[in-house]
Amino acid sequence: MTRTVYVNGEFVPETEAKVSIFDRGFLMADAVYEVTSVLDGKLVDYAGHAKRLERSLKELDMTLPVTLDELLEIHRELVKLNDLEEGGIYLQVTRGSAGDRDFIWPDPETTKASLVLFTQSKPGNAMSEKAKAGYKIITVPDIRWHRRDIKTVQLLYPSMAKMMAKKAGVDDAWLVEDGLVTEGTSNNAYIVKDGKIITRALSNDILHGITRASVLKFAKEAQMEVEERSFSVEEAKAADEAFITSAGAYVTPIIEIDGEAVGAGASGPVALRLREIYIDEMRKAAI
Ligand code: PDD
Repeated sequence: MTRTVYVNGEFVPETEAKVSIFDRGFLMADAVYEVTSVLDGKLVDYAGHAKRLERSLKELDMTLPVTLDELLEIHRELVKLNDLEEGGIYLQVTRGSAGDRDFIWPDPETTKASLVLFTQSKPGNAMSEKAKAGYKIITVPDIRWHRRDIKTVQLLYPSMAKMMAKKAGVDDAWLVEDGLVTEGTSNNAYIVKDGKIITRALSNDILHGITRASVLKFAKEAQMEVEERSFSVEEAKAADEAFITSAGAYVTPIIEIDGEAVGAGASGPVALRLREIYIDEMRKAAI
């Protein structure tokens, strides 16, 4: 099926969508992005994603070329035009094209940021048996830059780490710095020990996950204990449970790390409960 996508003010068939070869997103990874999940044809945790987008743009001195109201309307129109029931919307803002390659940023008065959005259909994502059964992961060194709190499109290393996982015959990888887990390639990382949920505190070392914020809020509301601190790979391997969160994976259990079973080597009750709560609550709150 040919999708209808959004490019700089226009809804066009994906085959007709065009951006310049001089676009700084293409040449310099000078761009930020968001992925918003869609459930029952509605946007999940949208306010959080819009807010983080604004923050990423501000950190890089970029300006959104549309208003926030217009941005929401573009999301909704794309869902409608593509009959999207379940999946996600990918959004990218780049610093635009100044008509040549230059390390120096162009003047935003004359070079407008570029905005692209498209849908990705993933029927059955929320009910995925594979996700409920849990993922196996490996750990790899975290060699990314130190502004991981900005959601930039510099995804070469996360992509390499996913390829390392694929070659190792597992589903994903956790990134490790100074012996401590930072986060997953495209998700936040958690362990559960003696009923307590442990996840790295927010800093420039990790992306401030929108799913993370909601899941921790729901966990606290359900009287679960949460501790925001770093943990080591050894601690993770000795934990009762482990899991990840992201807009695409929601809450997905981790059942094996570097070939060693986590807990009983099967999806744990805390992770599965949080997955259920998150999906149920989001179905109610999606807009
Ligand atoms: N990734 N950490 C990293 C490095 C991420 O790339 C992501 C999201 C997350 C989770 O953030 P959120 O809960 O807001 O989705 C954490 C998206 C889904 C992606 O790149 O496809």
